[in-house]
Amino acid sequence: MNTEIIKIPKINTSNLNEGFLTFIESQHHIPFEIKRVYYTYEVKKDIIRGHHAHKKLKQILICIYGKIEVEVDNGKLKKQHILDNPSEALYLGEGVWHTMKWLKDNSILLVLASDYYNENDYIRNYDEFIEMVKGGYWNENTF
Ligand code: TYD
Repeated sequence: MNTEIIKIPKINTSNLNEGFLTFIESQHHIPFEIKRVYYTYEVKKDIIRGHHAHKKLKQILICIYGKIEVEVDNGKLKKQHILDNPSEALYLGEGVWHTMKWLKDNSILLVLASDYYNENDYIRNYDEFIEMVKGGYWNENTF
């Protein structure tokens, strides 16, 4: 599975009652140069988003507020990850069908992406995705 949970730095400033700070640097904490940042918000509980895979794009998903379940599927195996910790990131490589289910109202999903938005990089049809897996479109590589 071309996915991995990555621990990212969490600076403890709570002894000053100032909370926590987390930072992410391109290629230091994540395995690519960040070209795009986007976030999904004002989403109600039980909504499921995603339902697609990418040909080449690599992404990092962080739930910076709330609780979101991400299901990843490489065409052979499915796994569920609960994201509810802002200092934990889910690396999502290319060729992974994914859905994100909101487990709490107004949870915020922050995404760091390896490339600019390109609709041609999306596979939005599951049968097409499975055909591409069977045809060996992606080589199995795990970060
Ligand atoms: P999509 O990636 O399908 O959202 P999700 O995976 O959260 O369900 O994108 C939803 C819409 O937003 C779609 O019409 C494409 C558009 N979009 C952009 O224009 N730029 C972007 O960077 C992203 C991520 C999406």
